[in-house]
Amino acid sequence: MIGRLNHVAIAVPDLAAAAARYRETLGARVSAPREEPDHGVTVVFVELANSKVELLQPLGESSPVAAFLARNPGGGIHHLCFEVADIGAARDRLVAAGARVLGGGTPRPGAHGRPVLFLHPRDFMGTLIELEEA
Ligand code: CO
Repeated sequence: MIGRLNHVAIAVPDLAAAAARYRETLGARVSAPREEPDHGVTVVFVELANSKVELLQPLGESSPVAAFLARNPGGGIHHLCFEVADIGAARDRLVAAGARVLGGGTPRPGAHGRPVLFLHPRDFMGTLIELEEA
C-alpha cells in the first residue's frame, strides 16, 4: 500500500541554525522557511535527489512539535511520511486493521497541499507516521 518515502521530518529548537547546518555542513539544497499555521510549525525543506528532509520548528502556543521538543530538547526525528495512491482507501484499511488514525481520520491538507493523515506512534513501533496522497 505505501509507496515512496516522501520525507523525514526532524523537530528542531532553532530552525535557522538547523537550516545552516544542512546547507553549509552537509552541502544540501535548503528552502526558505515557510509558516504552516494549520500544523503549528515553521518548515524548511531540504531537497534530496530521492526524498526530502523537513526541519520543523514550533509555531504558536499549541504546536504538537513543542511537546516533542520538551521531551527532546536538542531535536530529533519527529515523523516519517510515506506516499499512498488513495488516502481514503488507506485510512479504511488501517482502521479495519485496528490502527489508530489521528485527528478523527479526516485527511487534511499537508505541507505540500496534498491530503495527509497521521497514525499513532504506538501502533508503528514508536514512530509517528504521516501518509500523503501522491
Ligand atoms: Co510531514
